[in-house]
Amino acid sequence: MHIDTRAVHAGRAPDATTGAVMPPIHLSTTFERAADGGYPTGFAYTRESNPNRMSLETALAELEGGVAAFAFASGMAAIDATLRALSPGDHVIFPDEIYYGVRHLLHTVYAPAQLQASFVDMAKLDAVRAAVRPNTRLVWAETPSNPSLKIADIEAVAAIAHASGAWCGVDNTWASPVMQNPLALGADLVMHSTTKYIGGHSDVLGGALIVREAGPLAEKLGHIQHHGGGVASPFDCWLLLRSLATLPLRVRAQTESAGKIASFLAGHAGVSRVHYPGLETHPGHAIAGRQMRGFGGMLSFEVVGGREAAFALAARLRLITRATSLGGVETLIEHRRSIEGPDSTTPDGLLRMSVGLEHADDLIDDLGAALAG
Ligand SMILES: Cc1ncc(COP(=O)(O)O)c(C=O)c1O
Repeated sequence: MHIDTRAVHAGRAPDATTGAVMPPIHLSTTFERAADGGYPTGFAYTRESNPNRMSLETALAELEGGVAAFAFASGMAAIDATLRALSPGDHVIFPDEIYYGVRHLLHTVYAPAQLQASFVDMAKLDAVRAAVRPNTRLVWAETPSNPSLKIADIEAVAAIAHASGAWCGVDNTWASPVMQNPLALGADLVMHSTTKYIGGHSDVLGGALIVREAGPLAEKLGHIQHHGGGVASPFDCWLLLRSLATLPLRVRAQTESAGKIASFLAGHAGVSRVHYPGLETHPGHAIAGRQMRGFGGMLSFEVVGGREAAFALAARLRLITRATSLGGVETLIEHRRSIEGPDSTTPDGLLRMSVGLEHADDLIDDLGAALAG
């Protein structure tokens, strides 16, 4: 069945008691026990499980081709749960261009003895191989990466991880399940900041983990979700399930516009470099073409004149909003280096764009006028 159909129907059924076609929101934190002490509906307490969370998790597992999903209160809570599934002293290989929040989490919350970390260019498989240690337990990829859209070959990275007895996890936030399914390429775990494309309207914060198979990883993550308690609320789960129905339509439209905008910027004298895997000049173009069903709605570009010119350009935009985050219906632009802090390796003239659902011509007009000064 096509993803458009699954996105509408996965995790949904008319409400058994009222016939409501759209699911009710179950805010109750607790559920009645039977006289014999059992839980006839299977629900006991909302931190453990909740009907809205179950619906969302069922849908996410189906869209990513996994056996189970775990919904969290944010993308970072989902990543933190993954790291807590490891044992003290384990080693993790991360991409050098990982979402900067993960680097901060590792450096400020985890002690070095708790978790050893290497950061490598995941587009270079030799670098990944060279980073493997006897205690490597997780290889984490983020593709396309944030903010310069580097592409990692998921199948090859998963093979390296498995040859070393490690799990392979992929942050699939930027591609969304519409454009890429890492589990089908051999990854063991997919992570989403559901705040982004899955939520799609910049009004809900969430995260999710989806596992390829039942086993120790799935059990550990379920245990951490239940006992760590960083779960997504029933209302957030309801909003996310509602948004899933339009995910394929939104992401395809955003991808089409991003391709047009990338071509426009690539031909503009005021732009020194465009990072978009859909461009033939992008180093990851061939791999992205193989493992993705489209190149996605995110791009970044470097403005001639560096930091000052990038800020000035963003200030002249009339339609495109200056704000962090991505995946919403509105187009956002952001100077990444100034948000990433002192450790940032992002070029000073780089602006990142999350392309929304406005008409591509209007967005190009806005960029063109701002670039003209
Ligand atoms: C690729 C990626 N992963 C993870 C996160 C963290 O997600 P959240 O902000 O929902 O905690 C983000 C947030 O921007 C992201 O872009």
